[in-house]
Amino acid sequence: MLHTKVAIVGLGTVGTGVARLLLEFGDRTARHAGRSLVLEQIVVKDLQKARTIKLPAGILSDDIKRITLDPEITVVALLMGGLEPARSIMLELLASGKNIVTANKALLAAHGPELFDRARELGRSIAFEASVAGGIPIIANISQCLSANQIQSIHAILNGTSNYILTQMEAHGASYADAVREAQRLGYAEADPTMDVDGSDAAQKLAILSHLAFGARVAWHEIPRQGIDTLDLADLRYAKELGYRIKLLAVAGLNSDGLELHVSPTLVKLGSPLAEVRGAYNAISVVGDAVGRVFFSGLGAGQMPTASAVVADLIDTVVGRSTITFRTLELWSKQGARVAASDYGSVSGRYYLRFNVADRPSVLAEIAGALGKENISIASVIQHEAEEGSQGVVPLVIMTHNTTEGALGRAIDTIDQLAFMRGRSVRMRVLD
Ligand code: NAP
Ligand code: HSE
Repeated sequence: MLHTKVAIVGLGTVGTGVARLLLEFGDRTARHAGRSLVLEQIVVKDLQKARTIKLPAGILSDDIKRITLDPEITVVALLMGGLEPARSIMLELLASGKNIVTANKALLAAHGPELFDRARELGRSIAFEASVAGGIPIIANISQCLSANQIQSIHAILNGTSNYILTQMEAHGASYADAVREAQRLGYAEADPTMDVDGSDAAQKLAILSHLAFGARVAWHEIPRQGIDTLDLADLRYAKELGYRIKLLAVAGLNSDGLELHVSPTLVKLGSPLAEVRGAYNAISVVGDAVGRVFFSGLGAGQMPTASAVVADLIDTVVGRSTITFRTLELWSKQGARVAASDYGSVSGRYYLRFNVADRPSVLAEIAGALGKENISIASVIQHEAEEGSQGVVPLVIMTHNTTEGALGRAIDTIDQLAFMRGRSVRMRVLD
């Protein structure tokens, strides 16, 4: 039987899963690739670190040259995180003639144009299914299976860590800190989980999806974003009382001005498919003009789901499919962007608002007045009686009718200045 030599850089959560699939399930990959994939080299940073997988003798090193100087290794899975030295290593691998498979979305979101241009110049390919939504084959679906469509919108849960934390807090009463620790232990979180919980990881993935689906070339850090790191347990409870569940939602949608883009904690109707996505699961709801709505769901983080996507890319690369797709899609090429991000202030929707206010007369009237000045109409109000020990401060929860981000921002700026306000106001988008 034919064989192809492959290598891995990084043997952490994902790299270990990939090595396991290649070493323990070689028959399966050989059957699907029509040749065996021989794991020839694995390069790590710290050779002294204990590994959770038994490896054949002599394949583990900390020397990238063992890959770059071996002409028989044609494809490399780059499975380390961060920007540097990951970027330099990818460039070195490309220059030495390797095709690349990667799960590193931060790297692609930051340096996609440079890396993809370089791969094209050198006649190499970069496959990146595992970089968005872990085990869900969303890159292949958007770039190939749905290519007869003009994609109109994407509503997605793209960060497994945040969804796991929200689920642990809401369904199991876990504290935020405990839930973060558990997400790290389970291998869902990044080495530094800050970008998981502040919305950055989801924004990076949204930037990649928006490029594929809409031809948008947006810098991920320009996507308006808010994470779950500032969420209050009270908001999870009020959302439930109102018939919603809070999800960290990444949204991209065509409107008359361009492309609406944002990542934010959002109240999603209980019982709707997105609201029922729990734990480390991700989901992507895509609307195409021909196909209508399609919904993808699966584990978006974790060792084996992510390894599943990486190994599929390795197989696609050795059989030549990735090269064809890569050449045809012209990703991040110098050709002009097909659509630009629209003004965030004009993005419309309904909102959930919570104000902590002094329990005295006319508070509601003044808040309603400030909202009314911006033409924002109130859909419902919740105010429970002050609890013992609350020192005369009560939460006031308001659901609005449709308005714009800009109008709401102006109204909130006014309300935050009012004398009865205690602490900062909270606002979240609502998806009905
Ligand atoms: P991880 O557990 O932190 O592992 C990172 C690996 O990279 C380690 O084995 C480390 O070596 C190696 N490494 C770091 N610097 C290196 C260098 N200079 N040269 C060679 N190797 C180096 O990370 P992970 O969770 O597997 O994630 C890897 C990538 O996949 C990240 O980009 C992440 O965003 C992405 N991803 C992760 C998941 C997930 O569920 N974890 C899902 C999808 C995508 P040592 O072991 O020697 O320290
Ligand atoms: N840290 C990421 C997440 C891994 O939790 O979604 C998958 O990209």
